[in-house]
Amino acid sequence: MTASASGERSSFARNPLDLIAHAHAHQMQMCDAMERIADGLPDEIDRRLCAQVASCLLFDLPLHHHDEETALFPLLRQRSLAEDGLSEILDRLASEHSADTDFASEIAEALDVLGQGGRSANPDMLGYMLRGFFERYRRHVHWENTLVMPLARLRLTPDDLEGLAAMMDQHRRQAD
Ligand SMILES: [Fe+2]
Ligand SMILES: [Fe+2]
Repeated sequence: MTASASGERSSFARNPLDLIAHAHAHQMQMCDAMERIADGLPDEIDRRLCAQVASCLLFDLPLHHHDEETALFPLLRQRSLAEDGLSEILDRLASEHSADTDFASEIAEALDVLGQGGRSANPDMLGYMLRGFFERYRRHVHWENTLVMPLARLRLTPDDLEGLAAMMDQHRRQAD
């Protein structure tokens, strides 16, 4: 087998739903980190943690939302049954993505200042924004883990999974 053939094969060998589940676990850790940052304001600042969370908010989150909205959710809409009641849930989750992506970039900007050694212009406001975000985002991930992922594992066919993996690979190449 050539190197490129084995590379292609390895990307399809992974179940893309495991990658999405892994991203959710990572996002829950990010929410915990945001809570630690909010608890430490205004004086106790872990600047490295602020920089890590800022990068996750700016890069990982939009990429994950893109995976879900353009690949996972449309596949699931095709495969889900009326009795699954999934359509409204996916609409709701997608609308949360757009609000959360905007809010995330605002928070990332503020955390970047801290990450680079600066001081927050308004620590109370930053704390409020952080708490609003991580509380909402934990609920978002919880809904996806509880309702969306089990149905995806149940309903998506091997062809769907291969298509999902290919689209997720493409998103990552575009993001590079
Ligand atoms: Fe989502
Ligand atoms: Fe998600």
